[in-house]
Amino acid sequence: MDQRAPLFEWPEEGVRRTPFHIYSDPEVYEAEMERVFRGRIWHYLGLDIEIPNPGDYRLMDVGDTSVIVIRTPDGGVNALVNRCAHKGSVLLYEPFGNAKELMCIYHNWLYDFDGNLQNVPFGKGINGKGGLPDDFQACDHGLQRLRVETLHGIIFGTFSDETEPLRDYMGTEMLANTERVAGKKFKILGYYSQYLDSNWKLYIENATDPYHATILHAWATKLKLNRLTMEGAIEMGRGGWHHLSWSKMATDQGGEVYETKQFRSGSDEMGQFGLHDPSVIEQWDEFGDGITTAIQTGFPNFMLQQIHNTIATRVLIPRGVEGSELVWTVLGYEDDEDWKTQGRLKQGNLIGPSGYISMEDGMVGNLVQRGTQGSKDRATVMELAGDSIETIRNSRASECGVRGFYTGYRELMGV
Ligand code: FES
Ligand SMILES: [Fe+2]
Repeated sequence: MDQRAPLFEWPEEGVRRTPFHIYSDPEVYEAEMERVFRGRIWHYLGLDIEIPNPGDYRLMDVGDTSVIVIRTPDGGVNALVNRCAHKGSVLLYEPFGNAKELMCIYHNWLYDFDGNLQNVPFGKGINGKGGLPDDFQACDHGLQRLRVETLHGIIFGTFSDETEPLRDYMGTEMLANTERVAGKKFKILGYYSQYLDSNWKLYIENATDPYHATILHAWATKLKLNRLTMEGAIEMGRGGWHHLSWSKMATDQGGEVYETKQFRSGSDEMGQFGLHDPSVIEQWDEFGDGITTAIQTGFPNFMLQQIHNTIATRVLIPRGVEGSELVWTVLGYEDDEDWKTQGRLKQGNLIGPSGYISMEDGMVGNLVQRGTQGSKDRATVMELAGDSIETIRNSRASECGVRGFYTGYRELMGV
């Protein structure tokens, strides 16, 4: 239990509101880094297949902490804070690579892959003069380590000894979809990342909000790829902290509502548009369940995406109070035939920073960032489906996903 006085007062309506100032307050941001990102929860660190051989590493930022995720000689994975015990320099600075040893470039302090300090140059001085004092204990000056667990080849880490086992943290609903999407060995098709001029939480709100998905993304609606009138659900995990939104394209009923002038996708402006080459939306039933879109979020900033046959992990990295970076790892499966790989790459034009149906996600956060700037004493209104943070089936007209995220946020932040 956090005994500190609350950093600020949350609106009395609870998670039906978020106070606008949390998107631009430096003090809140600093507290988030400590209580959320270095708090007692699991964070996405990467994929097993990114670091197959001993010494292979990738860097991942957990909040504002750079972390080295490295394959050990015995085949395990270690996660070490990328911060030299001497003066705090990062040890590694290439995003991916293979290391023979972990040596800091500044004064060449040397660490093993478990983070133990192995050598300090001139530690014994020269000619018996200088050097480290006799009571200097190398074992007190290793690299800070995170606990690591892996689930279907997806690596997670936590700073806290109190965090429950990863599977318990994920909960049954999220485990089922993780198994569904990551149950076969992945193949990496590529990466992209995009800078967002908005606070990190604004993109997480976007990812947990199927309400906007069929309205803002006029293309998704126009091409009948995703509509709230399709069979679907928002499944909530761990008391609302995680969410999974899915839909089945072939089940659309009553979708004509989108063709009315209440919706941008049904407006005259959109009427003139269509696809000359529809092959970009040709797809196959990937998992034999008819689900054409499934977006899973893991609190706080992990996403597992299936949109048609585009599979990806996304992680949203805070970059200061009013900026963030969204990093996508685009995936196929190891046993994919060539036509599947080609199909995924082609469909990839729908998704991502400039994708037909998702480019708007990169800019709406900034609209909120700008709109809330002069009104920090006000708050959002998120009342679709009241204040529920429960699973909702046969409808996705609910903001339970966003409210669920803030349920976790409030608990960790103590507000
Ligand atoms: S800062 Fe790393 S050895 Fe000096
Ligand atoms: Fe979106």
